[in-house]
Amino acid sequence: MRVIETAAGLREWRNTVPSNQSTGVVPTMGALHAGHRALIERSAKENKFTIVTIFVNRVQFNQASDFENYPKTFEQDLALCKEAGASIVFVPRSEDELYPDQYRYRISENEFSKTLCGEFRPGHFDGVLTVVMKLLSLARADRAYFGEKDLQQLRLIEGMARAFFLQTGIIPCPTVREPSGLALSSRNLRLPPGERAIAPKLYEILSSAPTTGLAKEKLEALGFKVEYLVDQPEGSGTRRLAAAWLGGVRLIDNVSL
Ligand code: PAJ
Repeated sequence: MRVIETAAGLREWRNTVPSNQSTGVVPTMGALHAGHRALIERSAKENKFTIVTIFVNRVQFNQASDFENYPKTFEQDLALCKEAGASIVFVPRSEDELYPDQYRYRISENEFSKTLCGEFRPGHFDGVLTVVMKLLSLARADRAYFGEKDLQQLRLIEGMARAFFLQTGIIPCPTVREPSGLALSSRNLRLPPGERAIAPKLYEILSSAPTTGLAKEKLEALGFKVEYLVDQPEGSGTRRLAAAWLGGVRLIDNVSL
């Protein structure tokens, strides 16, 4: 496994990959856990080479404190990437590597990205789509892997790939959960112990409440501050999506009903 710190270095490596050998990419912000690991392992299984990118993308954070407090576990991340079968870890050594334009150019979506998480995090999805576009352009991968845990993000990236005729296939991966049902998330590390014990109720209540109204009531009784909780048609079924604050930490989850 090789660590690459510059955009030029990643391009150079990419040019050495013969065209008959496939490449997968797994974009992350680090603080890697078993959810990320599942994406990396899947890519390693389906491709000859796997690039993991680690970059805490400032422009997608709408609160400076959230960006500054984002957990950093770099040495452990490298070990996890290696074990999971990564070939390349791309860790831009400065923001200029990815933003030589200082974020003057950006990708935005004007409908779905303004709803759900986007309503409460203005500019968030512009930051996500822009960095993903940059990473996909550098990696020129056959496949890129994203988790269903961030379902709105996944749908927006799929839409961007269609809108811009990207050559990379967007591969959705199921949410990895603790035995308690809590979706793994880097931000779980920031939950105080009392809230940590209540957090699994989010999944339990989303999965079992008969209506969104009842789900919201139950969560609020437990101390969650619900930002949104909605049922949306998806294919032949329904997805229930929610974001809620608990102990100063914002949790999101979604379940297929
Ligand atoms: P990050 O939160 O680090 O997540 C990286 C990838 O791991 C995303 O595709 C996310 O959906 C997936 N993931 C996180 N937790 C998961 C879980 N419990 N089960 C399955 N997959 C999970 O999402 C981002 O970073 C950023 O927005 C990024 C796409 C890298 C752009 O900066």
